[in-house]
Amino acid sequence: MTQDELKTLVGQAALQYVVPGAVVGVGSGSTVNKFIEALAAMKGRIPGAVSSSIASTEHLQAAGIPVFDANDVGDIEVYIDGADEIDGHGCMIKGGGAALTREKIVAAQSRRFVCIADESKQVQVLGRFPVPVEIIPMATQRLVRQFAAMGATARIRLRGGQPLVTDNGQHILDVSGLEIADPVRFESEVNQWPGVITVGVFAHQKAAVCLLGTPGGVKTLVF
Ligand code: 5RP
Repeated sequence: MTQDELKTLVGQAALQYVVPGAVVGVGSGSTVNKFIEALAAMKGRIPGAVSSSIASTEHLQAAGIPVFDANDVGDIEVYIDGADEIDGHGCMIKGGGAALTREKIVAAQSRRFVCIADESKQVQVLGRFPVPVEIIPMATQRLVRQFAAMGATARIRLRGGQPLVTDNGQHILDVSGLEIADPVRFESEVNQWPGVITVGVFAHQKAAVCLLGTPGGVKTLVF
């Protein structure tokens, strides 16, 4: 099975976690796009979705699913999103699509995080995938030095030769050379550095369930 087929498989499998009659939280990325395609079949049975990015909002609306502002709904029953890495405890690296801040906001508003991923995303220890960090641009060079002091290398993410600008009008640092043995501690520490908006380690908002696409079918991991 190709990676794309595995993504389709888990995108469809996630439908069983959507609560009929309740607003669903929707993440971002290519795996989530498969979920949105599958969700179109349920559109009459849910009021709509809260979205974590402009791209997902556009996909949801194109599929005929109403999108609500997070401030206009209360707690969300379930949040479906992908990951760049997921460890054996449900902690994740996210933000490969630069949507990490809104993803963490919607995850925090949700009772249950269901991660959908192909098996290439499963790791023992987080850190091989560079950790995305959304930052305030004036803090860039100081944060680069702060990561260097940790033994890591932080690079500003570029698009078309210029710093990528997120949905929130900010920049992204991609931090490589990390081995994150204690994701809760790492997230808590980096999150309080001045200039950091969101660190793309999801340990406080970890997954409750992961639907992992494997050639043998969907494997369900419960954390
Ligand atoms: C976007 C994300 C995505 O969920 C993550 O990058 C996985 O993406 P994909 O499903 O395309 O592999 O965190 O900010």
